[in-house]
Amino acid sequence: MYRTHNCGELRLKDVGKQVSLSGWVQSGRDLGGLTFIDLRDRYGITQLVFSMDDNVDLCERARKLGREFVIAAKGVVNERSNKNMNRETGDIELMVDEFEILNPSKVPPFTIEDDTDGGDELRMKYRYLDIRRNPVKNNLIFRSKCSLEVRKYLDEQGFIEIETPFLIKSTPEGARDFVVPSRLNQGTFYALPQSPQTFKQLLMVSGMDKYYQIVKCFRDEDLRADRQPEFTQIDCEMAFIHRDDVLDNFEGLTRHLFKSLLYVNLDEFPRISYDDALKYYGSDKPDIRFDMKFTELSELAKGKGFSIFDEAELIVGICVKNVNLSNKELKELTEWLRRPQIGAQGMVYISYNEDGTLKSSIGKYFTEEELNGWKSVLNAEQRDLVLILSGEKERTRKQMSELRLEMARRLGLMKDGDFKPLWVIDFPLLEWDEEEKRFFAMHHPFTSPKRDEIEKMMSGDLETLKNLKADAYDLVINGNEIGGGSIRIHDRELQEKNFNLLGFTPEEAEKQFGFLMGAFEYGAPPHGGIAFGFDRLCAVMNNQTTIRDYIAFPKNNQGKDIMIDAPDTIDDKQLDELGLILKTVNNYQ
Ligand code: AMO
Repeated sequence: MYRTHNCGELRLKDVGKQVSLSGWVQSGRDLGGLTFIDLRDRYGITQLVFSMDDNVDLCERARKLGREFVIAAKGVVNERSNKNMNRETGDIELMVDEFEILNPSKVPPFTIEDDTDGGDELRMKYRYLDIRRNPVKNNLIFRSKCSLEVRKYLDEQGFIEIETPFLIKSTPEGARDFVVPSRLNQGTFYALPQSPQTFKQLLMVSGMDKYYQIVKCFRDEDLRADRQPEFTQIDCEMAFIHRDDVLDNFEGLTRHLFKSLLYVNLDEFPRISYDDALKYYGSDKPDIRFDMKFTELSELAKGKGFSIFDEAELIVGICVKNVNLSNKELKELTEWLRRPQIGAQGMVYISYNEDGTLKSSIGKYFTEEELNGWKSVLNAEQRDLVLILSGEKERTRKQMSELRLEMARRLGLMKDGDFKPLWVIDFPLLEWDEEEKRFFAMHHPFTSPKRDEIEKMMSGDLETLKNLKADAYDLVINGNEIGGGSIRIHDRELQEKNFNLLGFTPEEAEKQFGFLMGAFEYGAPPHGGIAFGFDRLCAVMNNQTTIRDYIAFPKNNQGKDIMIDAPDTIDDKQLDELGLILKTVNNYQ
């Protein structure tokens, strides 16, 4: 038998028992008469002891064990004289009387320890070794538990899990598709799903009124810390529901996950409109763990001879509580804002000093009385610092959003373990692209406008269309977009109209989405849904932003799996079978 127990299991109550353990050699110490080996498996580490007094030959063999050798050892559990309080098995050790090397190991390219010496690329190349380390292993265990709790909750609510195909036709979610050439139908391509969007809607037409799936999605987009080309969604759809039914259900799921996995009871989820999110936080995914809401100051600040304010489309300020920056620090902050990544022209400040005086960079243009008068609007008191940016509306909001986050970072206001979810609702239906002079769907083309906005969809007026509101929503936690969804269009005519606004000709719409619009003609119920980014949710629940650490075999920043060396070329025979060589040659003729 390889093992009677695992390496994290034995305790004082087991002292005297004859047991066998199997695992990897974490480290060894040779003290002459005694040799100690730390044996590791998924569950923990147990100290093995080999005694010269008991068995010289066994001890000699143990001394030669290298790191990461796989061994099976038998012996008796013994109480340790010097206990290791940092280890769950630290009260005991195994006095080994027999062991076998199951497989030797080369010296690993980095140390398999919590704080490893291996760089990112090296650890990615040997990911199977990296997964032996606690931080990565624990992330994968968390992920597994989380998916189990998702299934428990949704099952309890009457959802059923249905798999949808991976070899499909393009579903537009705003990224490029990964395509797969078809051998049997040469010259044609499948697309890997960016999400199961159209299928889950078809399932609603089928009467499967509560669907879910924990599913891989594929998007050929630029990678970031919170994006991978293949990632996982908790994808859901419901029929005969309104927006609030979806929000309530998935607020319930989120609460259940935080409670069951982290023992955290979340507060109420505030709901704020997209317009307000931009107005007060400059972002559609605000971090509300801290305040510093924006205050618009145009009325107070314009017309006093300060041309920068007078010419600005927007003047906006934040109040930073209990902060007093030196001139040097203020200068450094202004330089930080001027970096090309943020691109602000400059920053105005008002420092309301403790002694009742104030210091400001616009003292030349505004009297002390005027600036003191701003305090109530800005919610500022003595000892607070007010930072003001101005300029073109959209850009200034973005810059102020960055400044707000930076101040929170500097002041330690983004506290780990503090979770502040919110719903952002009423997103615009359409997004105008000034360069291409056309609309894109803000969420996706199947999203319904809000019921009382449907009429306006028929308007030919650009401004009216730009302001159309959708029944679309996002779940945001600590400044991360965790999920997004919408109430869908469920009748053909409205769907056709939406495609028309998005620049599809009727023929194009029919060719790409005729199957869905056709299904709408056979009794499609009103429906809507949402998808959570599962990798993101796992990361955010653990106060992390890099989702790679929650994926067993992720891609690197260039979208490559450097362990298996993918993507890779394929040989001519394969290309030929797929009809791809022929096509290339033809293209050159
Ligand atoms: P959306 O495109 O908003 O909606 O995606 C839902 C959630 O998936 C996560 N996500 C990603 N996670 C990691 N890497 C990526 N490249 C990536 N892209 C998205 C995000 C996001 O909030 N079909 C709709 C859902 C619906 O309408 O029901 C959809 O896919 O957390």
